[in-house]
Amino acid sequence: MSPDRQTAPDFDEIIDRRGTNCSKWDMMEPVYGVSPDEGLAMWVADMDFRPPACVQRAVEEMAAHGVYGYAASDAAQREAIGWWMDRRHGWRPDPGDIFTTHGLVNATGLCVDAFTEPGEGVVLFTPVYHAFARVIRAAGRQVIECPLALDEGRYVPDFEAWDAMMTGRERMMILCSPQNPGGRVWSRAELEGWAEFARRHDLILVSDEIHCDLTMPGVTHTAMTRIDGVADRLLMLTATTKTFNIAGAHIGNVIVSDPKLKARFAARMGALGLSPNSFGLAMATAAMSPDGVEWLEALRRYLDGNRRLFEEGVAAIPGLKPMPLESTYLEWVDFSGTGMTREEVLARIEGEAKIAVNHGTSFGLGGESFQRFNIATPRARVAEAVARLKSAFADLQ
Ligand SMILES: Cc1ncc(COP(=O)(O)O)c(C=O)c1O
Repeated sequence: MSPDRQTAPDFDEIIDRRGTNCSKWDMMEPVYGVSPDEGLAMWVADMDFRPPACVQRAVEEMAAHGVYGYAASDAAQREAIGWWMDRRHGWRPDPGDIFTTHGLVNATGLCVDAFTEPGEGVVLFTPVYHAFARVIRAAGRQVIECPLALDEGRYVPDFEAWDAMMTGRERMMILCSPQNPGGRVWSRAELEGWAEFARRHDLILVSDEIHCDLTMPGVTHTAMTRIDGVADRLLMLTATTKTFNIAGAHIGNVIVSDPKLKARFAARMGALGLSPNSFGLAMATAAMSPDGVEWLEALRRYLDGNRRLFEEGVAAIPGLKPMPLESTYLEWVDFSGTGMTREEVLARIEGEAKIAVNHGTSFGLGGESFQRFNIATPRARVAEAVARLKSAFADLQ
């Protein structure tokens, strides 16, 4: 049955996802040896919540119709993106500049494929979302890891150090904005710095902004498209899938306004025979609506409550230090203060507390002493995770 349009979302509801071919819960045992019956899945970056009712209705309408043929076009989705970006991020893309891909890992692969050659360098600012390096390496390109600096416990760029690392063999940089796993929302000045860095080293700039809607209340994201002097080298990646928890729809967008870049990207999309999935189109288009906005505002308030509970609870455990979260629902916790080896830390988190987390090492240089916790789950589970961590590290207190 369709959820009632008027009903406020109940993010406290525990929805059993086990046995639904769900990566986060059903792969926990094979990957971590933690049974989903007693474990807490805080790894894969999706949420344990239903999407807004408008998305559910779109899927039900398609199911009720019952004929699942080719979609006519993605024009309605591209119009909806224009409306959404204008309303949420103060900038309206031309629908003609928008390409629809099978999600943003796919979009990253397409950008690497279209704008770099085998053996060339793609610059990442680490620690950063692990799939970037995986895709770059799989395509036979070099990953150049430029470590972010730490300033009072928050990541900041270090352009001077990175300038010295460039060799002239680099062709592209991928910026994660907002940043996963550190949760930073980059300031306009920092983004201008990155734009200058791209110009200085003649790099194509791929800006992955999948987390742009998930800012904490009071924090404002600046789209890279609003930074001057970068349009001729910019590919911006956006999606509805993190915002509305529809990652299984595998839909995302590349926005590119420069005519030469656009023509080259279109040619690669054509050569690979890519066209969008109709369920993804219907879900994304329905989500970018006034109902979607209302749901998102409720979600952001809820996530902010989870963030406080988690950060206060974890910061009170000696040796553990969460990075303050400005966007995303992914808490990045430094365990270096425990003085323990990585193996000991993980034995306590996974073996004792039975929490599945993303290992810091998978995010590249600088992630070694960290672990990533997904807090987009009913609050009772976040409270349970904090209690289990307190108990697993009780001897430090
Ligand atoms: C920065 C970033 N980009 C892309 C993705 C995944 O995108 P998709 O599911 O559209 O392939 C994630 C998922 O966590 C992410 O954090």
